Amino acid sequence: MANVDKIKQPQYESYMENCKEYLDDEGVIHEHYVRFLHTQNMKKDRKLYISKKGHKIKCIHEDGCYPFIGNLVQDFNPRLVLELGFSWGGMTKLFEDYTKMGTEIHAYNKSCGRKPSERLFGKNVKFHWADLLKVPLARLVSLCKDQRKKLLYCDNGNKIKEVYMYGQHLNVGDMIGAHDYPKEIYHDYNLLLEKTKNRNTREDIDNMNSVLADFEPHEHDLMLEKGFSDRFWIKIK
Ligand SMILES: C[S@@+](CC[C@H](N)C(=O)[O-])C[C@H]1O[C@@H](n2cnc3c(N)ncnc32)[C@H](O)[C@@H]1O
Repeated sequence: MANVDKIKQPQYESYMENCKEYLDDEGVIHEHYVRFLHTQNMKKDRKLYISKKGHKIKCIHEDGCYPFIGNLVQDFNPRLVLELGFSWGGMTKLFEDYTKMGTEIHAYNKSCGRKPSERLFGKNVKFHWADLLKVPLARLVSLCKDQRKKLLYCDNGNKIKEVYMYGQHLNVGDMIGAHDYPKEIYHDYNLLLEKTKNRNTREDIDNMNSVLADFEPHEHDLMLEKGFSDRFWIKIK
């Protein structure tokens, strides 16, 4: 993969620095971020995705992974992106930045205190507010079956269930991405049950693995080497 370190994400050293940077810019999302920092008791440094136009959007991924994931997505070149769990929309913006113009992006989240600033996104990006896990969402299932080459990115409350509920409907050539792979998508039952605080059963894990059996790992070694917790797979059968 080329140009992995093309864009440098700044390190955010202190709350005040964060806040200053944040307030300098304009837009609703900033208020959300400041409120978020307050609720976190100002203790932790928080991460941002800096869009290609320079907007700063709160995003919960490891430092340095954005250009890496961006380039991976750009190389894959999906025409449809389905993102499960968008929070402030940081990854949604990354997908918009690294896909060809006009690529449709549908991002889903249940209603919560977090909210993206929709004015930062093009008309091709649609935010949907819905619970993804109670029952499979019919519209999303039909998007998974769509003929366009697609990326299904799972970063919602329960990746094991998401990969199963929605990943099973993808076509050969489509890609699944999942954040927090080592924590949540792991082949050791006991470790997995423990790490997901018993929110899943063995059957859930078997279901997920039965879906991934038709997929091939994509760049896992590189992700591992870089210490990033995302993993991607491409459907091969
Ligand atoms: C880890 S965050 C997503 C982070 C985002 N992808 C990013 O990188 O900034 C997970 C999101 O999933 C949402 N979520 C959790 N359970 C959900 C459910 N059952 N249906 C829809 N959204 C859910 C939460 O509200 C939260 O915003």
